Amino acid sequence: MNIDTIKIFQSLKTPFYYYDTTLLRATLQAASQAAGQHGFHLHYAIKANANPKILDIIQSYGIGADCVSGNEVARASTCGFPADRIVYAGVGKSDEEIRIALEKEIFCFNCESLPEIEVINTIAGSLGKKAAIALRINPNVDAHTHHYITTGIEENKFGFYLYDLDRAIAACKELEHIQLIGLHFHIGSQITDLTVFRGLCLRVNEIQTRLKEHGVILPHINFGGGLGINYDCPTCGLIPDFASYFQIFEDLFEVLPGQQLHFELGRSLVGQCGSLISRVLYVKEGKHKKFVILDAGMNDLLRPALYQAFHRIENLTSVGTHEKYDIVGPICESSDCFGKDRELPATNRGDLIAIRSCGAYGEVMASQYNLRNLPGNYFSESVL
Ligand code: LLP
Repeated sequence: MNIDTIKIFQSLKTPFYYYDTTLLRATLQAASQAAGQHGFHLHYAIKANANPKILDIIQSYGIGADCVSGNEVARASTCGFPADRIVYAGVGKSDEEIRIALEKEIFCFNCESLPEIEVINTIAGSLGKKAAIALRINPNVDAHTHHYITTGIEENKFGFYLYDLDRAIAACKELEHIQLIGLHFHIGSQITDLTVFRGLCLRVNEIQTRLKEHGVILPHINFGGGLGINYDCPTCGLIPDFASYFQIFEDLFEVLPGQQLHFELGRSLVGQCGSLISRVLYVKEGKHKKFVILDAGMNDLLRPALYQAFHRIENLTSVGTHEKYDIVGPICESSDCFGKDRELPATNRGDLIAIRSCGAYGEVMASQYNLRNLPGNYFSESVL
């Protein structure tokens, strides 16, 4: 962050999320170009960041939306995502949420169980509509990521298990208001080992071969999201390597005639453009260490407390000699810690601290725990 930006931050109430929209646009451009080269369809996973200004920028790149609640479907729609590019997943869609999505005439429901499909069929019938659906399949491919964000192995609650697939397809054929148009996969998030996606392609090839033997070829294959970002060194990987990611699917997935490929990227599109900016309230001498106590807490950024996630932490206003600190928030829980034994320049009350790589699953997961205010948000193009 440059000196002018930091000067402006001095006058703003902390904590707040700061979004570098120039980086966001460059990231979207790179992703759209890399996907477009292969004719792949991109749907942004709104759960990563549902800030309307961010959504407005993303939809302007012609990217669709991946939603997991009725409110996300409604938000996508009001922020300008065309209905025919909206997909909607989730193991627990309520009747009201299904109705909202049917009324908006979204492109596709990604369905996770037979009882859910039966309810969609009934509601679609009552509205005189036919629902386009894809079956979310749990392919039993390990994403090698944190177990809380692993979703594609048999112990997880997500999707149809492979042994259930034939029964599910047969059942869909019997339902008058259901049109089965595709298969959907999402095996996890923050995947940095790209060989995982190779494994996914091979497994989907196997599944397709089996389905083809039964005369089933579906026009849409959705590989979900999951491409990780570099939290350790944001500046080393400001824009993720979308080209290598999509090339894996181009090279390994055996596309059948007429099939279109879809992806639901969240974190990789927005993660690096956001930082949480906070002020140091106190520096406290502990018995064996020093604590930097911020005015941001786990209610503002939950990832470190919930997933033991690493985020780079920088002091924006000190150039003193480096010391080790634990960087903590004001909340009455020991999990309210953003980083242990972090080296920072000598830090004092009033210093501004940036927690980096917070554009995804940051602001959107903030809460008012301890009755604290929600963090603010600023965008480089309007603040500067
Ligand atoms: N599609 C589906 C069906 C998903 O469940 C998700 C994320 C995505 C796409 C987008 O995945 P991405 O490209 O962002 O990895 N709160 C956690 C991450 C939870 C991810 C949930 N599903 C975190 O802060 O790490």
